[in-house]
Amino acid sequence: MNVTSEATKSFWTIDTSFPKASRLGQDEHCDVAVIGAGIAGVSIAYELALAGRKVVLVDRGPLLGGMTSRTTAHLAPICDDGLSALIDMRGEALARGFQESQQAAVDCIEQHVARLEIDCDFRRLDGFLFPAAWMDEKEAARECNKEYAAAAKIGAQVEHGKGVQLKGHESAPILRYPNQATFHPLKYLRAVLADFEKQGGKAFADSAVVETDEGNEVRLKCDGGSTVTASNAVFATNSPINTWVKIHSKMAPYRTYAMAFDIPRGTLPDALYWDMDDPYYYVRLNPGPGKTDYLIVGGRDHRSGEANDGEARFTALEAWMRALVPGLGRERARWSGQVLETIDYCGFIGRSPGKGNIFIATGDSGQGMTHGALAGLLIHDLIVNGSNPWEAVYAPDRMPPAASARYLSENLTTVKNFAGYLLPGEIKSAEDVKPGEGGILQDGLSKFAVCRDREGKLHRHSASCTHLGCIVQWNSTEQCWDCPCHGSQFAADGAVLNGPAVRRLV
Ligand SMILES: Cc1cc2nc3c(=O)[nH]c(=O)nc-3n(C[C@H](O)[C@H](O)[C@H](O)COP(=O)(O)OP(=O)(O)OC[C@H]3O[C@@H](n4cnc5c(N)ncnc54)[C@H](O)[C@@H]3O)c2cc1C
Ligand code: FES
Repeated sequence: MNVTSEATKSFWTIDTSFPKASRLGQDEHCDVAVIGAGIAGVSIAYELALAGRKVVLVDRGPLLGGMTSRTTAHLAPICDDGLSALIDMRGEALARGFQESQQAAVDCIEQHVARLEIDCDFRRLDGFLFPAAWMDEKEAARECNKEYAAAAKIGAQVEHGKGVQLKGHESAPILRYPNQATFHPLKYLRAVLADFEKQGGKAFADSAVVETDEGNEVRLKCDGGSTVTASNAVFATNSPINTWVKIHSKMAPYRTYAMAFDIPRGTLPDALYWDMDDPYYYVRLNPGPGKTDYLIVGGRDHRSGEANDGEARFTALEAWMRALVPGLGRERARWSGQVLETIDYCGFIGRSPGKGNIFIATGDSGQGMTHGALAGLLIHDLIVNGSNPWEAVYAPDRMPPAASARYLSENLTTVKNFAGYLLPGEIKSAEDVKPGEGGILQDGLSKFAVCRDREGKLHRHSASCTHLGCIVQWNSTEQCWDCPCHGSQFAADGAVLNGPAVRRLV
């Protein structure tokens, strides 16, 4: 089970199914075990298989059914928190390394698409940064100048421009970033997985890793009892399940919302669109049949577990989009997912702190598609060659001094959450909980997560997240419990949907 069991279904799953794979039913020995079959795990497993390594890939749910199936798949090497913020945080040299490496990740995807002749709508296109609704022309021009100067400092391609084809922004100051890209993520990854298996790689679904024994070799035990023993192991579980605090205190989970609509072809040029708000809205197109394409919009992010108003957020997202594109057609899909924002805007990809033969790839920072493909290149180099030119940018054990303020503010959520143990519960009695709803019930000194699933069955578990004990929060839109501290998710019946938790709610 994984986030495929959330209530909403993404646009990509309408026309593409998850690849079939069996459960791990016997012990396996290999050079590299990769845990997690999203874009990060599949890219890592594939690059290592191409280099002749014997690789076993395992996933707790269907292959590709994690956050990768909930993405909007902008392949944008530009730091989505802004290049000026990235330079302030990491300095020019590391910001340049970030930019180059993210570009290399997109190039790598493009090469695989060409070599394997993958029919996944991959294309290069422009990315446009346009003003937030509240900005006047002066404010927008100031923001453009700041980001232009930052891009110029580190050699990223950018041009000043005037206007995009979005209502009210036809003559606004904008920036154009050439050479971005996009694709259909599931079509791409299905083809890569198929070639991974042709190269001798083995992939298993519905096999959650529940125990890790470390030594000269790493031994992973899956929930069915079978094991994978490997010289090296890579945790590409979106949120690492092998580290307790070190990494999780340096990133924070945010829920983000997306919708897909029909749009008459030609209404909007095929490009990536991002506004200058924080959190920002993101828009792209996808080819459709006949004279119809699809427009995919995302945004309205909030810290996971700190809001339970998904329907209102979808309404706001749709209203925002229709105001900018009055010709928008009918809705095709609505869904949400989680991103992990790191304190310094870059992912954590490399050797797990203090470990010789265990690696992690996490901290997507809203750019998990490019981070995932990059993890394939970087971890391949660390395992095969011992080093990679960009390892300092993504070093999991880093703690940049400029990130201390963000470190403290993101970890306040955890402090506030533990203080919640002293507050009364949200609901008075389990009987009052309606189908599809849930809340925290105080019973004596204990707190319980109580929900009634849409079929009317009542579920009651301890409200303590099995990762580090924060109080979980009900998510009516996705019919699951979200942990605001580090992003674990649990189904109504307590089963784990997303790490870092490994054990179900008690
Ligand atoms: C709405 C939305 C829009 C987004 N838009 C963009 C975008 O435009 N561009 C971009 O670059 N990024 C975007 N992202 C982010 C990006 O999609 C994700 O960061 C990326 O897909 C994460 O890939 P992953 O491989 O790290 O994780 P996942 O795809 O979640 O894969 C991790 C896998 O690990 C498995 N797993 C977990 N625990 C275990 C265990 N114990 N044992 C075995 N397996 C386990 C899970 O089942 C899962 O399949 C978006 C995300 C969302 C939600
Ligand atoms: S995810 Fe860490 S305490 Fe819940």
